[in-house]
Amino acid sequence: MSCIDVIQAREILDSRGNPTIEVEVSLESGAIGTAAVPSGASTGEHEAVELRDGDKERYLGKGVLKAVENVNEKVAKEIEGMDALDQRAIDRAMINLDGTPNKGKLGANAILSVSIAAMRLSALMENIPLWDAIAKRTGTTQQAPRLYVNVINGGVHADFRLPFQEYILVVEGNTNEALPIAHEAFTKLGELLRTHDTDVPMGDEGGYAPTFDTLEQPFELLASLVAEYPGTSIALDAAASELFHNGAYQLLGKSYSADELLAFYRELVERFPLHSIEDPFDEDSVTDFIRLTAMLEDFSTPLGAKKVLVVGDDLTVTNPVRISQAMKYKEINAVLIKPNQIGTVRETILAVQETYAADCKVIASHRSGETDDTFIADFARGIGAHGIKAGGFGQKERLEKYDRLLAIEREAETR
Ligand code: PGA
Ligand code: ZN
Repeated sequence: MSCIDVIQAREILDSRGNPTIEVEVSLESGAIGTAAVPSGASTGEHEAVELRDGDKERYLGKGVLKAVENVNEKVAKEIEGMDALDQRAIDRAMINLDGTPNKGKLGANAILSVSIAAMRLSALMENIPLWDAIAKRTGTTQQAPRLYVNVINGGVHADFRLPFQEYILVVEGNTNEALPIAHEAFTKLGELLRTHDTDVPMGDEGGYAPTFDTLEQPFELLASLVAEYPGTSIALDAAASELFHNGAYQLLGKSYSADELLAFYRELVERFPLHSIEDPFDEDSVTDFIRLTAMLEDFSTPLGAKKVLVVGDDLTVTNPVRISQAMKYKEINAVLIKPNQIGTVRETILAVQETYAADCKVIASHRSGETDDTFIADFARGIGAHGIKAGGFGQKERLEKYDRLLAIEREAETR
């Protein structure tokens, strides 16, 4: 038995400078598993609860001392003495201890920190890399994920300088081959943007945050990069819930009905080499998702790309029940997976299995508020994800993920 001995959580700051939770879980043998949880800004309505203190005098109410206390007292009391190899039992015990449907009592941030640290410890105890342990738990074949590099940040990640949240360059191939291409294209894009405006800030996810006059301009720019770099394509995360006000979508000062937005997406896939569109409509506008997915199902792009994916994020929130529903009604054909939307590793694995059972693709994702924790890189590799969203190259927390993907590739080659 690898008995959990001590659990110690503390408050740290994430890439936005907001408090988040870091934990150390140690075994009687002295082995230590650590974890730090990320935090979203464009969070879905149906996500598990991120517990924050609400004390306006401290970090404007964003402190996580209650979540830290929940780990150090309630969770520790329940989990200490349990076998670190039994993830299912550990996650189940925390879910039961919380007792709410959305982890609102202990906080999904509190629960996930311990869940990830336990997963790390079990890989350590089995003496296998983390990605391998994840593959075994999920029953998947490990594989290098495509890089989804968020090169232009908009929406809530960049004070709405652009309406859509993420303009992504997708790069095919192993990380070793894809990363230098992605980096060169990113640098080139920076040069192109600075010819229009010398002062281009960075957004929350380490991509550029420029402004444009029309909705099409960023796509034109990215299409020019795709033409220059073979094996690349464009992905969009519209994060449309953030644009939806009084029944219409607000884009660059103009109001779009769902029909008009659908027509805009059709024009996009006709004109540009699009790979996927994430959260194209408000998270509760299910019939609009269905219409777009049906439209793209038998649409072969003039640019010869494969079927354009429709990805659920705020729609599905890594929740196995919501994913199964979305699959049943063909709302989407790919799912974004973010462990902190649901709050345990075990449920995240179930979400992946649910997606694969419907023969749909998984894209593993970081959050806009990140830490140095690279769990998502191992997770993406272990589940054989179609892609990984890990941000742009302008922020250390994003680079850590890419460095870990490179290290994983070396580990995989020598096994
Ligand atoms: P978030 O953004 O982490 O702010 O939710 C990421 C996404 O929407 O994919
Ligand atoms: Zn998203």
